[in-house]
Amino acid sequence: MTNLIKIWDLPTRLFHGALALLIAGAFITVNLGDDWMTLHGQMGLVTLALIVFRICWGVFGGHWSQFRNFALHPRQVISYLKVSSFAFPSYIGHNPLGSWSALLMIFSLALQALSGLCSDDQILFKGPLTLYLSESQIEWASFYHSEVGQPLLIALIGTHLFAVLFYKYKLQHDLIKPMLSGYKSSDSVVAASVDNLKSRLLALGCFAFIVFLLFYFLPVQ
Ligand code: HEM
Ligand code: HEM
Repeated sequence: MTNLIKIWDLPTRLFHGALALLIAGAFITVNLGDDWMTLHGQMGLVTLALIVFRICWGVFGGHWSQFRNFALHPRQVISYLKVSSFAFPSYIGHNPLGSWSALLMIFSLALQALSGLCSDDQILFKGPLTLYLSESQIEWASFYHSEVGQPLLIALIGTHLFAVLFYKYKLQHDLIKPMLSGYKSSDSVVAASVDNLKSRLLALGCFAFIVFLLFYFLPVQ
């Protein structure tokens, strides 16, 4: 019998949708000219709030959103790459490649937002942490933000999009629908992620608190 199981709780799905929109927004605003840099910085700060939230949700969130349920062990990665597991999906949460790529994206996005807070565009806009840094530290952060972080994110997100489309069209394994609906079907009995009013309110409260702290202590203007 096939069971429909809640895998991605609403907070994780909203995190993902908001993250994709904000990153697109950050890339667009930075190319629109100097007047848009404040909005760029603010979008980057909300991105940082999302990342901090996701790290908390990786501990307290639904079963499959928790990092301890990610398939990260090198043995899992090697056997996933060796066996024909691509064709016969055996992971209900993130598979080993998905687990590592999620962590890598979260880590690089955190670095991108943090380096942005320490960057100066040498025109009108600078991140709020530049107040506390030396010229050479600001130069270093701006270099990372523009010359390392930017291409790294383009490569990671490009690979991410290629992978989900490859799974869908080549391997006939749709990962996108579950990221939208939250549900996956499974032949075996596996744990479902808790996703009720209480957990959603907890997520909302946690995210609102992080946004408040970041915008209070690091005003981007
Ligand atoms: C994860 C979120 C972010 C992304 C994806 C992002 C992306 C980018 C990109 C693509 C550029 C253009 C680099 C270039 O073409 O030279 C840029 C420049 C810049 N960003 Fe961000 N950014 C983010 C967060 C932030 C934050 C939070 C701030 C500050 C509050 C910030 C401040 C700046 C500054 C000052 C520049 C100009 C740097 C320079 O001219 O060297 N960014 N950002
Ligand atoms: C800037 C754009 C994007 C970024 C930064 C991004 C980032 C991420 C991250 C961090 C995760 C891990 C989710 C978690 O555990 O919290 C993820 C998962 C996922 N993303 Fe994206 N994403 C982007 C765009 C997209 C788009 C446009 C699609 C759909 C076409 C998509 C489809 C998916 C799917 C299906 C998963 C789950 C993969 C799995 O089941 O292992 N993503 N994404």
